[in-house]
Amino acid sequence: MSKKIEADDSVTKRVISRIVPTHRLLEGGGFPVRRPAALGRLTDPFLLLDEMGPVDWPPGGAIGAPSHPHRGFETVTYLLQGSIQHEDSAGNSGLMQPGDVQWMTAGRGVIHSEMPPPDFLESGGLMHGFQIWVNLPAEKKMMQPRYQDVPRQDIPVVESDDGFVKVVVVAGKSLGVSAVIDTVIPITFLHISILPGGTLTQSLEHGLNGLVFCFGGALIVGEENSRQEVLDGEMAILSNGEKISFSVSKNADEGAELLLLAGQPLGEPIARYGPFVMNTEEEIQQAFIDFQSGNFA
Ligand code: CO
Repeated sequence: MSKKIEADDSVTKRVISRIVPTHRLLEGGGFPVRRPAALGRLTDPFLLLDEMGPVDWPPGGAIGAPSHPHRGFETVTYLLQGSIQHEDSAGNSGLMQPGDVQWMTAGRGVIHSEMPPPDFLESGGLMHGFQIWVNLPAEKKMMQPRYQDVPRQDIPVVESDDGFVKVVVVAGKSLGVSAVIDTVIPITFLHISILPGGTLTQSLEHGLNGLVFCFGGALIVGEENSRQEVLDGEMAILSNGEKISFSVSKNADEGAELLLLAGQPLGEPIARYGPFVMNTEEEIQQAFIDFQSGNFA
C-alpha cells in the first residue's frame, strides 16, 4: 500500500552523483589522516571519515589520540595495520589488532584514549585504518554508552564465486552474508577488495545515503553509460537507487580497495562542537557543563 517509487527514483541503479577530494591533515596527538570534505546532508548520517595513515612509524615515534570526550554519536574504528590500545574513564579497555573493529556508541558520554600500546610504540611499524563517525538520532543521543569490540576472526568475510571480489562485512549485508555488529539505525559498512577483471553488484536499500571511499587502485563505479572512475583517495557520493556496481578493469596493474558506507539519513538539525554532536546549541553547552563537572560516564 505504500507508494515506494517516486517520480525521480524510477532508476534503481545507483551512479556517482559527485566526487569529493580528500585533504591530508593531522588528528589526535598529531597522526596523519586523509579526510574527505564534510558534506552535511549528502553524507547524513556519516559525520566524518578518516583514513588513519598508512604511516610507517619509527621506533618510539607512534602517535595516538590522548584522552578526549565524545557525546551524541558513534565512533567506528577499523584497523588494517598496527595496534591501538583503547581505555576509557569508566574502566573499559581493549587492544585492537589488524582486522579488528570497535563500534563505540558514545551516547551520553565517553572519555577515552586511543594510543599505540607500549610494545608497538617501542618497535614502531606500519599503522593503517579508518575511523568513521556515525550520527545518532535525537532520541538515542543520550543512550548508555555501548561497545561492540569485534576481533578479526568474528567478522564475516565473503568471496565472490569467481574469487575476484572479497568483502569484509562490518555492518549490513553482502553476497548473502550478514554482519555480526548491531547498529542503532540501518548502516552498511563494507570493505571491498576487487582484483583486476572483478565485478561486484551490491544491493543497497532504497533511501539510504551511500558513499564510496577508494583507498587503493582505480575503481569503476556504475555500468555502461554511467561508468565513472574513482581513484585512490577520492570519495564518491552515490545517487539513490537499489543497487550499485563496482568493477576493476581487467587491464589494471592492481586491484582496488574501497569502503562502501550507507546509512539512513536522519534529517535532523546538527549542532556540533569538536567531539560533541547534538541537535541544539543548548545541548552542546550542556555537554561542556557535564564534561567539566565530571558528569560523563
Ligand atoms: Co575518540
